[in-house]
Amino acid sequence: MAMIDFNLREVTEADLPILFEHQQDEDARRMAAFTSKDPADWAAFTAKWAKILGDPTAAAKVVVHGERVVGMVGTFIAPWSGQREVTYWIGREYWGQGLATRALTEFIAPLSERPLYGRAAADNRGSIRVLEKCGFVDVGRERAFAEARGEEIDEVVMELRAGVPSPAVWS
Ligand SMILES: CC(C)(COP(=O)(O)OP(=O)(O)OC[C@H]1O[C@@H](n2cnc3c(N)ncnc32)[C@H](O)[C@@H]1OP(=O)(O)O)[C@@H](O)C(=O)NCCC(=O)NCCS
Repeated sequence: MAMIDFNLREVTEADLPILFEHQQDEDARRMAAFTSKDPADWAAFTAKWAKILGDPTAAAKVVVHGERVVGMVGTFIAPWSGQREVTYWIGREYWGQGLATRALTEFIAPLSERPLYGRAAADNRGSIRVLEKCGFVDVGRERAFAEARGEEIDEVVMELRAGVPSPAVWS
């Protein structure tokens, strides 16, 4: 897939309003499912980001496309599993252009740590497909409480093992 004007860069405080806006989208929240309790709580959102940016075991980048911030991709050690997980969110108007796949591919390429894990609501086909395209394989199901849905749901656990080559998604 040919795509220009794409890059990942460090998150700055100036990026937070646009990332906050992305999480206001109800359909996107439903997809992501395991979200913060109150999407409109700006103080909680900035506090969460201050924690991420100050955490030496976490990393996050904004996805820049055509000079606009269109989403984010990150990694952290999950407190619920002790495993290194990846996370990503693309603003709704930019869905379906291969951006999440490219962002995750470029983000994980320089990370030496394997395995990496990704979790998605079992009905979040888009997110599961992004993980599959980046080489993650399904390693099981768990039940977890999804704030955005107010109930416990099935989630798929996906694993990226050592030695899996990065897909050349944009060539
Ligand atoms: C899930 C999400 C990241 C996908 O982003 P995107 O940039 O549209 O994804 P891509 O364009 O890279 O698509 C990758 C693949 O997923 C498929 N896909 C994307 N969205 C889909 C959807 N809603 N349903 C089914 N398949 C979907 C694409 O068709 C593509 O597969 P293909 O190449 O086999 O056709 C985006 O919808 C999003 O940010 N949603 C809200 C937050 C979220 O769910 N984050 C993940 C939390 S686990």
